[in-house]
Amino acid sequence: MQSPDPPTPLHVQQIVKTYQQGTAKVFALDGVDQKVEPGEFVAIMGASGSGKSTLLHAMAGLIDVDEGRVKLAGQDLSQLSDAALTRFRRDNLGIVFQAYNLIPSLTAEDNIRLPAPKRMAAKLDSIVEELLDRLDMTARRHHKPGALSGGEQQRIAIARALVCNPTILLADEPTGSLDSISGTQICELLRNLVDQQGHSIVMVTHEPHVAMWADRICVLKDGTNLAELRTDGCRNPQSVAHQYQQALGGEVAV
Ligand SMILES: Nc1ncnc2c1ncn2[C@@H]1O[C@H](COP(=O)(O)OP(=O)(O)OP(=O)(O)O)[C@@H](O)[C@H]1O
Ligand SMILES: [Mg+2]
Repeated sequence: MQSPDPPTPLHVQQIVKTYQQGTAKVFALDGVDQKVEPGEFVAIMGASGSGKSTLLHAMAGLIDVDEGRVKLAGQDLSQLSDAALTRFRRDNLGIVFQAYNLIPSLTAEDNIRLPAPKRMAAKLDSIVEELLDRLDMTARRHHKPGALSGGEQQRIAIARALVCNPTILLADEPTGSLDSISGTQICELLRNLVDQQGHSIVMVTHEPHVAMWADRICVLKDGTNLAELRTDGCRNPQSVAHQYQQALGGEVAV
């Protein structure tokens, strides 16, 4: 008998999110759709204020949406209680931010262990060993974040996001605080997670040389899907920048 197809890691349907700013109602998201397939790497681009972070936070269930549905691993997030959502998020979702968000008083290794539930205790040591090795951080495992470079801190943040083997990894400008060499190393690492481990990734960025590592680029404008760009595996930042500017009608410099 054939094994059933894995569930779609992430399916966002017609989501709307508004914020009240003084007397004005701002549509941060105004009917966004997005479907991420297993083993797919999707970048989200768009001008400042176009809704990228709001979309990522909605995908992560960190904010409620006004309308529409967010399905993670087949589960509609709006159907879960707060406690169930927290557990579901821990077990199915890894999230990485620009600012790393590591606990300064814990070593690199203990930061990685932090999200793991008790039931993982028996296998946690070997999972952490493997992550440290895969992310080339074994030699730095006992250092606290303050003694690590930005690139190293982000690698630890990625390892922490992967410790529960999530269905999907979400990253909001993961290279935004890094120099270009460390940023490229993080992009290569994310690409390898997709190619070698079959992870699914959604990454927000406004930089073509970062977005080019994805399979597909979703361009947002004013909280709506403006365009989908395909990278077709050629890592060409000029081509991405050109397509992106064309999508935006040449109105935003990158
Ligand atoms: N908590 C909030 N309260 C009020 N308005 C908000 C809030 N969060 C986002 N917005 C508004 O929603 C819109 C989209 O914001 P968002 O942070 O998603 O943009 P972004 O594309 O991530 O921008 P950037 O590239 O600057 O990070 C903006 O107009 C922003 O001012
Ligand atoms: Mg943002």
